[in-house]
Amino acid sequence: MPSMTVASCLQDALIRLQAEGIEGARLDVRILLAEALGKETSFILGYPEYAVSGDALARFEAMIVRRVAREPVARILGRREFWSLSFRISADTLDPRPDSETLISAVLERVSQTEKPLRVLDLGTGTGCLLLTLLHELPGAIGTGVDLSPAAVEMAALNAMDLGLSERASFCVGDWCNGLEGGWDMIISNPPYIGEREKNTLAPEVLNFDPPMALFAGDDGMLDYQRLIPQAAERLSVGGILVIEAGVHQAAPINNIMSACGLTCETAVSDLGGIARACIAKKTAADPRA
Ligand SMILES: C[S@@+](CC[C@H](N)C(=O)[O-])C[C@H]1O[C@@H](n2cnc3c(N)ncnc32)[C@H](O)[C@@H]1O
Repeated sequence: MPSMTVASCLQDALIRLQAEGIEGARLDVRILLAEALGKETSFILGYPEYAVSGDALARFEAMIVRRVAREPVARILGRREFWSLSFRISADTLDPRPDSETLISAVLERVSQTEKPLRVLDLGTGTGCLLLTLLHELPGAIGTGVDLSPAAVEMAALNAMDLGLSERASFCVGDWCNGLEGGWDMIISNPPYIGEREKNTLAPEVLNFDPPMALFAGDDGMLDYQRLIPQAAERLSVGGILVIEAGVHQAAPINNIMSACGLTCETAVSDLGGIARACIAKKTAADPRA
């Protein structure tokens, strides 16, 4: 393979990605070339004449072929940064989204003492990004992540190990709260919430690469909220909170389900795009439906 420079590699790859209509192509090619070279992205900007050859060039080419096929950069790298922590991702896990950080900030704003020994349950844990981020921020907390996918559970456990949180995090395969006891101070969940009827509107990066069981929840996207919220309401401690991620226009129906379960809802917290994203409710009575 002929030798090329950083600048010529970037330019060639940029043309190929832009021809596919890929948004953010300029940043993508910088990140991928840095990865292929084993350097920081600042190196890519600072050394345009650096020669790229041999294995690095072959690695870069393989990554560009994957990106042209619309595989997201995080999947090509095998990791995603969430709340400034690095998480491994795989074909069996959702690629964590920045919008989900809204749940983290909503929870942290409501915890007065970070050292408190809280018990946290994360339903549909995927990579474990929500639970592990909370345990990272709340050193007194312990928690459990549940997922229907055994491969996701394995990945979450690996992420816990990477982040030095294995002693406070446990993971299990399960169908929402089935088989779980109560007594949780906080239950969080980012369940599947895309309607099957919206399938054709999804970007190929989502439709072809996120696992379907992490995306779809019946025809209108509400199916899993309807299943898991009553189960979670039963298992919360009195005084405990339930924090659920909502899709566009889903916050109001989610609040209706939470209220019907006897929980007291707050106004949902919006993400940076202004979408009501984190639905929050408190259990104020021992029997939520009493
Ligand atoms: C939208 S993803 C969220 C993953 C992760 N919590 C995050 O925020 O990136 C939903 C997760 O729920 C899991 N899931 C789907 N149905 C489930 C069920 N019945 N019980 C438990 N987990 C389920 C999926 O495997 C997937 O990991």
